[in-house]
Amino acid sequence: MTLEEQLENLEEETMEKISNTSDLDSLNNIRVKTLGKKGPITEVLRGMKDLAPEDRPKVGSFANQVRNHLTQQIEKKRAKLEEEALNQALAEESIDVTLPGKQIPQGTRHILTKIVEEIEDIFVGMGYQIIEGPEVEQDHYNFERMNIPKNHPARDMQDTFYISDELLIRTHTSPVQARTMEKHDFSKGPLRMISPGKVFRRDTDDATHSHQFHQIEGLVVDKHITMGDLKGTLEELMKKMFGEDREVRLRPSYFPFTEPSVEADVSCFKCGGKGCSVCKHSGWIEILGSGMVHPDVLEMSGIDPKEYSGFAFGLGPDRIAMLRYGVEDIRSFYLNDTRFIDQFKGE
Ligand code: DAH
Repeated sequence: MTLEEQLENLEEETMEKISNTSDLDSLNNIRVKTLGKKGPITEVLRGMKDLAPEDRPKVGSFANQVRNHLTQQIEKKRAKLEEEALNQALAEESIDVTLPGKQIPQGTRHILTKIVEEIEDIFVGMGYQIIEGPEVEQDHYNFERMNIPKNHPARDMQDTFYISDELLIRTHTSPVQARTMEKHDFSKGPLRMISPGKVFRRDTDDATHSHQFHQIEGLVVDKHITMGDLKGTLEELMKKMFGEDREVRLRPSYFPFTEPSVEADVSCFKCGGKGCSVCKHSGWIEILGSGMVHPDVLEMSGIDPKEYSGFAFGLGPDRIAMLRYGVEDIRSFYLNDTRFIDQFKGE
């Protein structure tokens, strides 16, 4: 047999093997055995040394042709086998489209955040600015400038966490009144602001007390501000928050930084004033503290009380949320129990 005949036979045999094989491993064996360094093609090429020199190029190129052809065929077959394996895997895999999908938990803004934002929107609509103050506050602003000097009994009602003799975490948002008044430039217009934020008191936590809660301070100062302005503003707020039929009632009260001071009640949004468990059968719900800014408080902030007057109020978003949604324990807002928080997703 000539070398060319040997090569032809080899090509034929290998083609047959390739077409008979049905798995990738044996295909790989065929490739190694036939085309590898120790395989028959290499062997044939080695026999070339016995040929006449003029025959060598012809046989050499024929051997290369055979090798290339076989390499191609093996690659083709490999691609075919791989595709078949993939199709089979896909055919075996079954997808049950009736299985319930995986729920991706979605968060929501905290209900107190939503209440604060709702109230902010109402006041922004009435031309108020939103001004935030520091939670770590000076005794000077938290008490002195709010007309609560050292040894004043009102300090006992707001006993707190001191950081040093002069620094504390604020007991109310009222110090932002002083901080805002002392900076305000009345040549640019009246002062109208609200200040939402966290406040802290050394209270023992129970269903209605929390050592941390929220307040929204309100302050308006201009010439000729009267209690009529205060009442109208509170009525507007209550109607927007609790419904168009709401009424506001003012009762005399006491705060060191207002004179006169009032407690504001809103007619019950649940029973409309007839009396129910929400309003403790009185028809009215106590909603905030308020009053006309004390002349001394104005004066301490550099505002002449003979020329200017103002009103202030402080309301509690926690209390509003409790009333509106029937939350019985203020601590629920602060426990990070998502079962509680998630109830307000749609609000
Ligand atoms: N700062 C008061 C408190 O924490 C609430 C308050 C009452 C604020 C009357 C006011 C106000 O601005 O006029 O109890």
